Amino acid sequence: MGKKISGSAKSIQLLLLLCFSLSNFLDLAYADPPCKSCSDDSSYSDNSPFKNNLEILMSYLRSNASVSKPYNTSTGNDLDRIYAQYMCLNYAAHDECSTCIKVASQTITRLCPGDKEAVVWEELCQLRYSSQNFSAHLDVSRKIPQYIKKEVKNPAQFRLVVNETLDNLIEQASFNASANMYATREVTTDTYTLYALAQCSADLSPYDCNTCLQVSRANISSCCDACRGVRVLSRSCYLWYEFYSFYEGNRRIWMFIILTVAGALLVVVILGSFIYCIVKRNGIEKWKKENSRQIDIGHGIGRPSRTVFQLQSFHRDGLDVQESSFMDFASIGDATNNFSNSNFIGKGGFGPVYKV
Ligand SMILES: *[C@@H]1O[C@H](CO)[C@@H](O)[C@H](O)[C@H]1NC(C)=O
Ligand SMILES: *[C@@H]1O[C@H](CO)[C@@H](O)[C@H](O)[C@H]1NC(C)=O
Ligand SMILES: *[C@@H]1O[C@H](CO)[C@@H](O)[C@H](O)[C@H]1NC(C)=O
Ligand SMILES: *[C@@H]1O[C@H](CO)[C@@H](O)[C@H](O)[C@H]1NC(C)=O
Ligand SMILES: *[C@@H]1O[C@H](CO)[C@@H](O)[C@H](O)[C@H]1NC(C)=O
Ligand SMILES: *[C@@H]1O[C@H](CO)[C@@H](O)[C@H](O)[C@H]1NC(C)=O
Repeated sequence: MGKKISGSAKSIQLLLLLCFSLSNFLDLAYADPPCKSCSDDSSYSDNSPFKNNLEILMSYLRSNASVSKPYNTSTGNDLDRIYAQYMCLNYAAHDECSTCIKVASQTITRLCPGDKEAVVWEELCQLRYSSQNFSAHLDVSRKIPQYIKKEVKNPAQFRLVVNETLDNLIEQASFNASANMYATREVTTDTYTLYALAQCSADLSPYDCNTCLQVSRANISSCCDACRGVRVLSRSCYLWYEFYSFYEGNRRIWMFIILTVAGALLVVVILGSFIYCIVKRNGIEKWKKENSRQIDIGHGIGRPSRTVFQLQSFHRDGLDVQESSFMDFASIGDATNNFSNSNFIGKGGFGPVYKV
């Protein structure tokens, strides 16, 4: 029994370790998209012209999503007029942007049913509509900070690095005309590299872009300025930083790869321990049938001064002790004719083996 128990104890240990690393990994993850911000100040009813216009507008966005990354449009008359806009993160490829908008145009009506103003953020894009013309209009209200709930080891030093990084980043995104309201920046210190991104809605003025990003930055200071990753979602701009270069290559692909590998590992460990248990159990049954009287007295034979030996397995008539047990030196000497060669059977995994 002992072997089996210690075998499954080992696999349980492994499983716990794996669960621990998985939960650690999940600690480093954000809430899954989509994220929403709906205003329920004013609402539309079913079968209203507004609802009809909204459906038309969303289908416009879907069918035009492959045309350009930022896009705005409107439809309807007077009170039922709707303005809509989407913005993809600059690093998203055109087809990713298009896919993202198609998804967002469906989730937005599901997540904010009946609302005359709403925004959803998917992984790579945001989609927004309103009964007000918000084009070129800065909106810094209702920012949503998302962050990894784990802090860095050296917060004081980290704050300085973040401060310096964001200063430069916000300046670039807002006032460098050739940057098109989008900037990324990486800063390497002795122990890590910080990757940061800023992006404004392209219809904003440089001054408004700067204001939006500064408000996001203040929001980071108040919620999570020592966290290992922060993303501030807002209607008019994005401000993010991470410890990996999320804007190069596709983050979702990495998530997919990491999760697949973790999942495969889990299956291998479970299957492995299952097979290990079965093989171990069968091995012991077989060994029992042979009923040979063997004592594996372990490494102790080279050190006879030790009075206690750990026995790997010990099997006698009427006495069935397979777990690791202890036996004093004298009785082993007795049992094996003082380790005489006539009782020597061979070398076991744990040292020489003697017949009893
Ligand atoms: C967007 O799509 C709609 C319907 O497919 C089309 O009528 C409209 O012209 C498109 N708008 C632009 C700006 O491409
Ligand atoms: C889209 O945004 C541009 C820039 O602000 C603006 O000039 C244009 O009128 C907007 N289009 C619609 C349909 O609102
Ligand atoms: C919306 O507002 C923008 C900026 O104020 C303006 O340029 C645009 O013409 C407006 N769009 C409509 C459809 O009125
Ligand atoms: C900043 O973040 C907090 C949550 O940490 C939120 O309650 C607050 O409204 C945010 N500020 C702005 C201006 O959006
Ligand atoms: C961040 O940097 C600015 C100057 O760029 C400085 O005025 C401010 O005090 C700094 N804040 C912190 C928390 O270090
Ligand atoms: C402005 O942005 C462009 C493109 O991102 C970059 O090559 C250039 O160095 C920037 N200019 C300044 C003064 O930082």
